[in-house]
Amino acid sequence: MHHPWEQGESDMGAAGGGGSVGSVGGGAPGAARGEGPRVLRAGMVGLGMIFEETYRPFFEQVHKTPLYDRRFGVCEVPLTAVASRTGTRGARYQQTLAGKVAAFENFAGPEAVAQLLASGVDWVAIATPDDRHFEAARACLQAGRHVLIEKPSVLSLEQLDELERLARQHGVLAKVVYHKLLDPDHKRLRTFYRQQKLQHVNNGYCSLLEPKSIAQGQFAEWITGRNPGTYVAVHYIKLIDFTFGGRLERVTATGQRGLVGPVDGPTWDSCQLRLVYRYDSGREAAFDIHTSWVTPDNFPGYVEQEVQFRFDNGVWNGHSRKRGVECTIAGETPMRTKITLNNHYSAAFVEPWNEASQRGYGVEVLERFAREVAEVEFGGPADERSARLARARALDYNDLAADRQTVAAVQALEAILDAQWKGRPDGVARLNGPEGGLVLWHPGRREPDVLYSPPV
Ligand SMILES: NC(=O)c1ccc[n+]([C@@H]2O[C@H](COP(=O)([O-])OP(=O)(O)OC[C@H]3O[C@@H](n4cnc5c(N)ncnc54)[C@H](O)[C@@H]3O)[C@@H](O)[C@H]2O)c1
Repeated sequence: MHHPWEQGESDMGAAGGGGSVGSVGGGAPGAARGEGPRVLRAGMVGLGMIFEETYRPFFEQVHKTPLYDRRFGVCEVPLTAVASRTGTRGARYQQTLAGKVAAFENFAGPEAVAQLLASGVDWVAIATPDDRHFEAARACLQAGRHVLIEKPSVLSLEQLDELERLARQHGVLAKVVYHKLLDPDHKRLRTFYRQQKLQHVNNGYCSLLEPKSIAQGQFAEWITGRNPGTYVAVHYIKLIDFTFGGRLERVTATGQRGLVGPVDGPTWDSCQLRLVYRYDSGREAAFDIHTSWVTPDNFPGYVEQEVQFRFDNGVWNGHSRKRGVECTIAGETPMRTKITLNNHYSAAFVEPWNEASQRGYGVEVLERFAREVAEVEFGGPADERSARLARARALDYNDLAADRQTVAAVQALEAILDAQWKGRPDGVARLNGPEGGLVLWHPGRREPDVLYSPPV
């Protein structure tokens, strides 16, 4: 795969009054402005590819220029602690980021998250492999800290319920990063749909193909038993869910094996997911999402990403590699730098005023979360904090409370593929039927597996 420092794109594209209040760093939250900068100390769990591509540039940028808003004044957002499995990357970043971000502590091993919390952070970003989000997020919320989780938030509705419950109990935010929602192309799509310029979506397809080096290099440590759909189709599940609304009714899926792992093993090379939604009009729409992580490494783009949505009165075609730039450099493309560049997600620039920067929607989505926390904590009087918290929670592009159908689709995908591995292919997951909230039916079997009983 491309080296993170080459500024490519990975799978994307182209983030009451409770326990945390007293712990927030910049003095009493909600105190009158004009008493010096507010401070929100950040902790980071997981220092892999996505940290390098988006969090690192965000913390560098906010170190240079703190957040400002007339509601909360100047707000510093220093990275003060990191936690990872081995601590090796943390130690390396302590060297390479010296002077570019504030000094930070580096914790490793099984107690790393507890130590990070004890070090006194105000919010925590979680960018561990997706089956390790839940435990870290639960520990942070139990400690009354705001949490931002990389997509997919968690892998089951029960886990989602638990995190939501803890966030409410402790009066903090629990949010998830779906940066594709901030891609200007997707914002425009949603704008047209809301304006009714594009009317009623009938069906569509999305594909996202990752290079083989992702599966065999960067992710080799945790890839066994996993599939590329959970990790990347989830971008499009969320895009569809958020953009078009509606009720998810059915989920089907299949997949192929034999390249990343043995042909009869639990690790998937590629998978195809179908979602069927129903809208208030009674009409349905179907969406197919194809993903893989076995595309040849000499592919001209970092990832292949394409969408097509068909409406009653139009068609939307989007191709993130064909936004307009192709660049060939002898000895460089397509292996070290890709031929089709995504300059929108997170790219390094020399600005026209000769300042070096790294920016794009992958970074913007993180800043936006920090602003939401700053507004909750510092955006007005303390006795109005719960109203500010409620406003931040009502933002359905990133709140965990609005992630239910997306998590249901991911949980269904994993269960359908697991059944296929065990010799029962072609399962159908149905939502909110008489048997339960998420129920997996297998062909030829009378009794379904109830994956989640309450309504989704
Ligand atoms: N939004 C995107 O487009 C995008 C892109 C890449 C990754 N991601 C998401 O970010 C998350 C991480 O992905 P990545 O590509 O950076 O993975 P990665 O494999 O490159 O890095 C994972 C990091 O987590 C750490 N880690 C693993 N287990 C841990 C544990 N139990 N406690 C603490 N740290 C632990 C590892 O040490 C490593 O630093 C995933 O949820 C993934 O879906 C999102």
